[in-house]
Amino acid sequence: MAQWVRLCGVAEAPPVGRVMEAEVEGVAICLANVNGELSALDNVCPHRQGPLGQGWIEGEAVVCPWHSWAFNVKTGLAEYPADERVEVFPLRVEGEDVLVDIE
Ligand code: FES
Repeated sequence: MAQWVRLCGVAEAPPVGRVMEAEVEGVAICLANVNGELSALDNVCPHRQGPLGQGWIEGEAVVCPWHSWAFNVKTGLAEYPADERVEVFPLRVEGEDVLVDIE
């Protein structure tokens, strides 16, 4: 069952081409803005638990700041290396709030 929770306000979300870290209900999230569209990914890199929300955007991927693994912000699939992925949480903007489904 969906569990929609407020992650942050729209005004607090990162600008185009940037990422940030956020936490809600004990879940650490990487909030990314690619071309004006927000995406919410698991903040923990599957390589060595690097903080993806402290990384940067390249194309449609967020790049881990520790060893540069890159994950597509829509699918969570790694562009490098293959066969790795992070969870992507459903996200919607409702009024002034950014909501994520952390179920
Ligand atoms: S911890 Fe993310 S690439 Fe190594």
